[in-house]
Amino acid sequence: MKKALKSVLALSLAIMLVFAVVGCSSSSTEDQPATADQPAKDGDKAADGQKYTIRIAHNQQSDMGYGIGVAKLKEVLEEKVGDKVELQIFDNGVLGNERDVTEGLTLGTVDMAITSVGVSSNFEPTLAAINLPFLVKNNDHLKKIMDQDLMKPAYDNLLKNKNIRALGLYAQGFRMVASNKGAINTLDDFKGLKIRVPEAPLFLSAFKALGANPTPIPWGEIYTSMQTHVVDAFENSPTVVYQYKLQEVIKYLSATNHIWEGGVIMISEDFYKKLPEDIQKALQEAVKVSVEHQHKAIEQQTGEFLEKIKEAGVKYNEVDTAAMQHAVQSVYDEFIKQNPGAKDMINKMIEAGK
Ligand code: PAF
Repeated sequence: MKKALKSVLALSLAIMLVFAVVGCSSSSTEDQPATADQPAKDGDKAADGQKYTIRIAHNQQSDMGYGIGVAKLKEVLEEKVGDKVELQIFDNGVLGNERDVTEGLTLGTVDMAITSVGVSSNFEPTLAAINLPFLVKNNDHLKKIMDQDLMKPAYDNLLKNKNIRALGLYAQGFRMVASNKGAINTLDDFKGLKIRVPEAPLFLSAFKALGANPTPIPWGEIYTSMQTHVVDAFENSPTVVYQYKLQEVIKYLSATNHIWEGGVIMISEDFYKKLPEDIQKALQEAVKVSVEHQHKAIEQQTGEFLEKIKEAGVKYNEVDTAAMQHAVQSVYDEFIKQNPGAKDMINKMIEAGK
């Protein structure tokens, strides 16, 4: 019943949004320098009195995870060009799950979206390079990958193949295994483990290589799937586990830190091209500030939320992952075989961690 109500609400909001988009694009862009037929030219500026609305969708809460980044993005963008732009936030998955809103970018029903790397790799496979198991060693390594803009080749592919522009990457953190069957201490503990993974090919092959029995399930079903034992485990970062109150349905949390996960900040290229150049520039700058802010907040929340998860009675353990790292080498080979163009990007990412 609850689920049916949620679907009706999501559908109504999606319909409202489509009407808002149609209504708004005709009224707000009517006399503007940039329209669908006449994209912004270099040097274009939003004219006085004209206001653009940018709608951004994500599936996390307003004060946690991606929500922290999006709130900062709104603050900085509107500080810079608030007289010309309003950022409207649709959080908590009200416009649908990550796959739906990413699809919305290609259909023009969503302007901007934050979608985790795993799910966005269904749209551009090379994005998943940063999800390769045990590739990102720690937050210093991640910072080097960000500072050297090593995801750029994947972002370029996304633009070329799907007409979606990636503006940056928010952090979710290092993923751990959450289970109600037993802790993960050794590679053997994965044997046959019924574990939920995101709808992302790389996660499936990683957990198969570890000997587990992975099942892709949409994130919205995770709480009940654990409660009703559809699966015995899932994996995600402590910030996500706590955000969705999943400490209530798990007994163990094992710090495998097997995959670093983040959310790609994406904008429909057709929509982006309609924005005058001064707004595009302000948006890029605001994203940059919000990314730095959000990454720091997630680092801090990871420790805080881990404590809260333990306080809730969940047994936490550190893990020696050497054997697991060895077991997933075939995943790298398979990934490079399927995406030969990504080899150089992956090598540079690995190099940045040395
Ligand atoms: O596991 C996932 O599907 C993703 O990490 C999530 C939780 C949907 C990102 O918000």
